[in-house]
Amino acid sequence: MTSESHGQLAVVTGATGGLGSQFCRQLAERHYSLLLVDRHEEALTALASQLHRDYGVSAETWCANLADQDAVCELADRLSTLSELTMLVNNAGFGQSKFFVDIDVGNHLDMINLHVHTPVRLSHAVLPGMLARNQGAIINVSSLSAWTPCAGIVQYSATKQFLVTFSEAVSEELRGTRVTIQALCPGFVETSFFAVDSMKAFDKKRVPRFLWVAPEEVVRYSLNHLEQPVAVPGLACRILGRLMRMPVARPFVRRLARNERHPTPGDDCQSG
Ligand SMILES: NC(=O)c1ccc[n+]([C@@H]2O[C@H](COP(=O)([O-])OP(=O)(O)OC[C@H]3O[C@@H](n4cnc5c(N)ncnc54)[C@H](OP(=O)(O)O)[C@@H]3O)[C@@H](O)[C@H]2O)c1
Repeated sequence: MTSESHGQLAVVTGATGGLGSQFCRQLAERHYSLLLVDRHEEALTALASQLHRDYGVSAETWCANLADQDAVCELADRLSTLSELTMLVNNAGFGQSKFFVDIDVGNHLDMINLHVHTPVRLSHAVLPGMLARNQGAIINVSSLSAWTPCAGIVQYSATKQFLVTFSEAVSEELRGTRVTIQALCPGFVETSFFAVDSMKAFDKKRVPRFLWVAPEEVVRYSLNHLEQPVAVPGLACRILGRLMRMPVARPFVRRLARNERHPTPGDDCQSG
């Protein structure tokens, strides 16, 4: 850790992706030193050197497939020993855009591991230290899709809803402390999220322009509103998010967000 880090360390999963790398940059600007977690060593090393060069912070790397729970246990053990850890960003994730039955079950289970088991295990590992020091924040990157339980994004929507309920409930347990937890629920963000195999069937042109939010804005909103258990960046997304939570709007939301069936024989999805 460098002297400029003010003794604060942030861990970011999915660090080399669109939102992950933006989290790293904005946290480095705020003088955090970083532990970057992702599954490609080369990309991690390149990002770590960039952050050191551009912001003078120390950035270490941890290469792991976070859908593999043995690998996640190892990371959790390491995190539980870091006394300067004040921020955990559970950001790694990927999308699916096919009907439930058309996706390989292994891909569903990878998603449940990555979006549910991993944030739970890592949060459980870091919270005791944060509570003992009475300082810290956890950000669980969820999605507006948490409120669209509809055709073609079954597992994505279900796992992202878990993160909202989990974060809201844990935040109740953290009342009266200086430790916060947030479910960050972006609308649409231009990142490599849409480039992976499992998102090939998704037609980005269907999404109205006003639902797209820049990665910089998503991350700034999140970091500036750590006290919010559910944070939705972008005014249009915030309004839509409110509407989506109203039972009367649910049938419309389901119809609008519905994806058509695109079965491709022999083309099982791979996680992103
Ligand atoms: N983009 C959007 O419109 C949008 C909207 C709402 C929520 N989100 C959420 O935002 C988060 C970040 O997504 P993004 O938009 O920044 O997409 P992205 O650019 O594809 O970044 C995702 C990152 O997660 C990593 N990752 C995926 N599976 C992993 C695994 N098994 N182990 C370790 N790392 C893994 C990816 O690594 P690889 O490069 O190796 O795949 C990548 O670095 C996700 O949780 C996503 O669900 C995105």
